[in-house]
Amino acid sequence: MTDINALSQELFAQLDAAQDEASVEQLRVNALGKKGSVSELLKGMGAMSPEERQTFGPLVNGLKQQLSDAIAEKKEALAQAALDARLLAERIDVTLPVRPEQRGRIHPIMQVFEEVQTIFADMGFAIAEGPDVEDDFHNFTALNFPPKHPARDMHDTFFFEEKEDGSRMLLRTHTSPVQVRTMLSQKPPIRIVAPGRTYRCDSDQTHTPMFHQIEGLVIEDGVHMGHLKGVLMDFMRAFFEIDDVDVRFRPHHFPFTEPSAEMDVRCDRSGGALKIGTGTDWLEILGCGMVHPNVLRACGIDPTQYQGFAFGMGIDRLAMLKYGIPDLRDMFAADVRWLKHYGFEPTVQPNLATGLS
Ligand code: DAH
Repeated sequence: MTDINALSQELFAQLDAAQDEASVEQLRVNALGKKGSVSELLKGMGAMSPEERQTFGPLVNGLKQQLSDAIAEKKEALAQAALDARLLAERIDVTLPVRPEQRGRIHPIMQVFEEVQTIFADMGFAIAEGPDVEDDFHNFTALNFPPKHPARDMHDTFFFEEKEDGSRMLLRTHTSPVQVRTMLSQKPPIRIVAPGRTYRCDSDQTHTPMFHQIEGLVIEDGVHMGHLKGVLMDFMRAFFEIDDVDVRFRPHHFPFTEPSAEMDVRCDRSGGALKIGTGTDWLEILGCGMVHPNVLRACGIDPTQYQGFAFGMGIDRLAMLKYGIPDLRDMFAADVRWLKHYGFEPTVQPNLATGLS
């Protein structure tokens, strides 16, 4: 009897002291395993008299049951504590700033693309895309550039080698071919912007052979020039984050719009820096107009039923203006010092609620 009490006390003391699942398991084997101390007591009962067995049996079985329950409970508690500790250790506070400080930067052009798309998406425009390598039909013919028309030469096009049938693929000179692709594949009402790379054989302070544009196209019944102006003015205010952006529309010619205009933004170039909103200089940033009936017809849209407006803006120019970057060519010089200065935090996404930039 005393044996059982002593053993019971010892086993429960050991269980209390056990700090981890492995030592609890060891205790279980030592007590309840085949050769365990409790099992040995049970085995010893064979040699007892029936009276002894009657008092001894329930005591040993009781101990066995209590001990195995207590062991299961302790294991459960230890597993829970281990899980709690792990969850606490692996917790991530997503509101903390990134550590160590991020060294990569978002290029101002990508930043501006994001900003511009955010604004137009908010106005209900969808995003459309087209290929950089285009054919003559989408880049010129469907946009009402007649074959051999001098306007084609003004685009300083990069052509690929002639194919056997005499046609040549080209690097798109503007994002306007995405208008054509969209009108050919969708039915009005259409409201898209198409961001992307564009290419022309040209290089100086405000021109690079590869540059970026975003094209806008709205085709709906009853759309007019007033809507075009309203959309562009709203865009300018949102983009530059100022209420008074001084712009001017100049009459212009594009084969794919009639009437056509160019829009300039007032800026100041003195002292090597570029400032927007003041000064006596103007920077041309977009072309626009009402979609020419020939373009609508070429894309299978009836010009007597639908009208539309379109615009194309230089993203690089917008970036220069907004972020005061004086020379366009620096944008593509791949100089990390430049990027560190003009670039943006990769973890901050432009949005209209907390500010674009
Ligand atoms: N595609 C023209 C360019 O690159 C820009 C442009 C002008 C696009 C007028 C348009 C537009 O959609 O309506 O120079």
